[in-house]
Formats: sequence, C-alpha cells, structure tokens
Amino acid sequence: MKEIIVIGGGGFAKEVVWLAHDCNRKVRGVLDDNTFTHGADVQGAIVLGSVDSWVDYTSDCEFVIAIGNPRTRKAVSDKMQLLGKPNFATLIHPSARYSNTVSFGQGSIICAGSILTADITLGAHNILNLNVTVGHECKFGDFITVAPMAAISGNVILDDLVEIGTGATIRQGLNLQKGSMLGMGGVLTKNIPERTIFAGNPAKKLKEITE
Ligand SMILES: CC(C)(COP(=O)(O)OP(=O)(O)OC[C@H]1O[C@@H](n2cnc3c(N)ncnc32)[C@H](O)[C@@H]1OP(=O)(O)O)[C@@H](O)C(=O)NCCC(=O)NCCS
Repeated sequence: MKEIIVIGGGGFAKEVVWLAHDCNRKVRGVLDDNTFTHGADVQGAIVLGSVDSWVDYTSDCEFVIAIGNPRTRKAVSDKMQLLGKPNFATLIHPSARYSNTVSFGQGSIICAGSILTADITLGAHNILNLNVTVGHECKFGDFITVAPMAAISGNVILDDLVEIGTGATIRQGLNLQKGSMLGMGGVLTKNIPERTIFAGNPAKKLKEITE
C-alpha cells in the first residue's frame, strides 16, 4: 500500500497523521507552504517541504489535504492540480461505521466514531471530524467540513464548500447552499442561502461570508 503524505502542517494535520496510523497507513511526511515549518515534527511526521513538491512523491505516495477551512482546502487542491493529477487517498478511521450504501469521494477524511447510515453520497475532500452522525439519503458536495459531534438528519443536502460547527444539529430535508456555514451548537430549522453563516437555537442569519 502506498504511503501517505499529509498536506498542511497545522493542528488538524496532527490528528490526521494519527488517523492514518490507525488506518495502518505509513506516513511519509507533511508538506506545507510555510517555510518556517520545514523540518518540524507534526505528530511524528516531518514537514518535508512546500506543497508543490508533491510531484516528487507521486510514484509511491498518496495525498490527503488536512486543512479544515473548505475554501483553503479547495484552493490547495486546485493549486496541486496545476502541476498534474495527484492521487488522493480516502482515510476512514476503523471505528467509523457505515452501511454498504454509503459512498465516499476521493480525498475524504472520516474521523473516529462517525456513523453514516444508508443511501448516503459524499463528494470529494469531505472532512467528517470526530463522532459526526449522518442520516439516510444525505447528499454532500465537494469540500465539506463537519466539526466534531455534529448531528445531520436524513435527506439533508450540503452543497460544495459548506461548513458545520461543533455540536450543530440539522433538521431533516434541509439544504445548506454553496459556501454556507452553520456555527457551533446551531440548531438548524431552515435552509441556509449561499455564503451565509447561520448560528444559534433556532439558527438565524449571523452574517455573509465576504472573503
Ligand atoms: C459562527 C462563527 C463562524 C462566527 O464567528 P465570527 O464571525 O468570528 O463571529 P464573532 O465571534 O465575532 O461573533 C459575532 C456574534 O455572534 C455570536 N456568535 C458567534 N458564534 C456563535 C454561535 N456558534 N452561536 C451563537 N452565537 C454565536 C457572538 O457571541 C457574537 O455575538 P455579539 O455580537 O452579541 O457579541 C463561529 O463562532 C463558529 O461557530 N465557528 C465554528 C467553530 C467550530 O465549530 N470549530 C470546529 C473546530 S474542529
């Protein structure tokens, strides 16, 4: 099996190095554009160089982008693909549970304790952090980030680049449109329009994302 290179050397990368080891994958190292981190130790993996050097490792490595912000994660993926076609690994912690009607997109990271039930489709580069639950017939786009302990009911549609905060809960059948976010602890009872942050219980519009 190919070794793993973790892209991004921040806090979540430490967790992903651990996750990869739990998946019995050997981690070759980390790539990060912050030159101050080069040579640093990330949970036992060394920062080998900048992200563009991924092309030097294609023959015997696969890649995962361990960056929580969906927009940054997409920007890094787009930049990597200017130089070729990276082989992205999908890492699913052995304690995660899912039925045979759940499909995962490439580059996704499913952390310990998450449970996905039936007829669920995840796009590419999704991150489901610790102990997330996803109900029947949910459909997620690409570059979704779900923080720990979020509970997503059945038939929820998350468009590309959606972010869900820690411990948020989502009523069944709702749609979070492209680039929107539900803040930590939010209880969502309505759809969220594009690039808008909702928060609170019941969740209401907090602001628009302008970056
Ligand atoms: C919603 C969120 C994005 C807003 O962040 P922000 O734009 O920096 O907003 P601020 O912290 O300036 O807060 C603005 C107001 O919203 C309130 N607020 C912020 N987050 C809130 C939340 N999750 N629920 C309810 N109110 C919230 C603040 O108390 C503040 O209220 P005030 O104006 O009355 O003082 C952020 O608080 C959040 O929930 N992030 C997710 C964190 C998370 O889950 N991380 C996971 C790491 S694995």
